[in-house]
Amino acid sequence: AAVIAVVPAAGVGKRMGGHIPKQYLPLQGRPILSHTLSRLLCHPRIARVIVAIGPEDGYFADLPEAQDPRLTVVTGGQERADSVRLALAEIPQPDAWALVHDAARPCLTAGDIDRLLAECEAQGAILAMPVRDTMKRADDQQRIDHTVERAALWHALTPQLFPAQALHHALCEAEQAGAEITDEASAMERQGWRPKLVSGRPDNIKVTHPDDLRLAELFLA
Ligand code: CTP
Ligand code: MG
Repeated sequence: AAVIAVVPAAGVGKRMGGHIPKQYLPLQGRPILSHTLSRLLCHPRIARVIVAIGPEDGYFADLPEAQDPRLTVVTGGQERADSVRLALAEIPQPDAWALVHDAARPCLTAGDIDRLLAECEAQGAILAMPVRDTMKRADDQQRIDHTVERAALWHALTPQLFPAQALHHALCEAEQAGAEITDEASAMERQGWRPKLVSGRPDNIKVTHPDDLRLAELFLA
């Protein structure tokens, strides 16, 4: 079945601060979103890329990838999950798989995409990282209540890979229920799905705070 990448890029980058949305900040002389899109567009298994941008975006058209015929642009929504839902509505094939990847993760490698595709199961898969530090559960006084067993804990990353139609349905239902959805898997979990966790690379960071820019430069070099 066709694999279609969906890229939420409609955020404003509040935590980054500054005047331009973080996905347009330069890394190695090119905007973050340009790195992200080119890495998806050059992967042989990805047929199309649908990108959701903000309603007042004045930067997208200047990206070198903007004219690629395999790219579709839609207007995103209030929350990340709304942007993904609106992008998924553009997929006509009932049997396509959607590979959802944050615009703000420009250090994605072809190897990570390959592994996600190879290890994906019928109920979908996400890239994730095993937690390395000892984890504490806090009480309401910010004192340690207990130590959480680390072996079962993972950081959820993107890309996340699901049947496009099922994911669209799950996001619509979550929206109607008013459920807060921070990644695709959490929408599928609400439907009883048990997505596979696929070990990703630690350099696939989400550029969130100003400090992350230096780290991402390093990983892209
Ligand atoms: N995103 C989106 N639509 C929204 C909000 C976020 O498409 N309404 C996208 C962002 O552009 C980003 C990805 O979702 O690529 C991950 O979100 P995040 O890192 O939180 O980005 P921002 O929401 O832009 O940053 P912040 O939360 O600091 O404002
Ligand atoms: Mg955000």
